[in-house]
Amino acid sequence: MNFSEDIQVRVVESDEGEALMQFLLEHYYREEPLTAGCSPPEPEQADKDFLLSNIPHGTCLVVVQGGSRIVGALVAGPKDAHEAEHLAEEVVEHSGTKWGRILGLLARVERETNVCKRYGVPSTIHVHALGIDPRLRGLGLGARLMSAVAERARALGHPLVTVDCTSLYSAGLMARLGYELINTIRYDEYLDEFGQQVFRPPAPHDSVKTYVLRL
Ligand SMILES: CC(C)(COP(=O)(O)OP(=O)(O)OC[C@H]1O[C@@H](n2cnc3c(N)ncnc32)[C@H](O)[C@@H]1OP(=O)(O)O)[C@@H](O)C(=O)NCCC(=O)NCCS
Repeated sequence: MNFSEDIQVRVVESDEGEALMQFLLEHYYREEPLTAGCSPPEPEQADKDFLLSNIPHGTCLVVVQGGSRIVGALVAGPKDAHEAEHLAEEVVEHSGTKWGRILGLLARVERETNVCKRYGVPSTIHVHALGIDPRLRGLGLGARLMSAVAERARALGHPLVTVDCTSLYSAGLMARLGYELINTIRYDEYLDEFGQQVFRPPAPHDSVKTYVLRL
């Protein structure tokens, strides 16, 4: 059996939360630039709970090798024109925590991009997380997950797929897939009230870039 015959992309089932989270802890969170770029290094429970809360939407996907081993994952869910207000409330609720700092940056991204208003659409499928097992990077698996989520979004009647790329690698992937770049916030320009840089991800990650695909 060759590599591509051994690989399957499918929707995450409702009872697969634990397996999905185990994969994300191993191959997504450790490197994801916002998680890695502010202390403590581990994601908070509220962050993990938020990602898992997307499973019922049917827009979370895994790449499975050999029938059962998860080697890639994508977490996505719908958002609408009220996302900026929703995120502003979440920032207040989680203020003073690592998840609150992450939400603070995502809320600023949402204010600056306002994708539903900008594109005149009621909703979008937003990609919250994307991770590939490091042993299988550079083989097009991230691209396969992105095209599968676009198919799911289309089937569910959403006119856009959006993603805030915190990593240089995910941004490069979206650019190659023809997504439109609509906003960039540099980490060294995103400061707290004391003028201190909030996220200090390792090189080569320098910014969060928002990309959009019209379906
Ligand atoms: C983003 C991610 C899913 C991309 O993986 P992918 O789809 O396999 O990557 P691509 O096919 O676009 O890779 C293009 C090239 O970059 C390399 N590359 C991709 N991610 C890399 C990484 N994290 N570190 C070093 N090199 C990486 C690939 O090996 C490939 O190299 P090649 O051209 O020499 O073969 C992957 O980097 C990842 O899982 N990162 C950790 C979690 C994360 O930060 N997610 C994004 C947050 S928005």
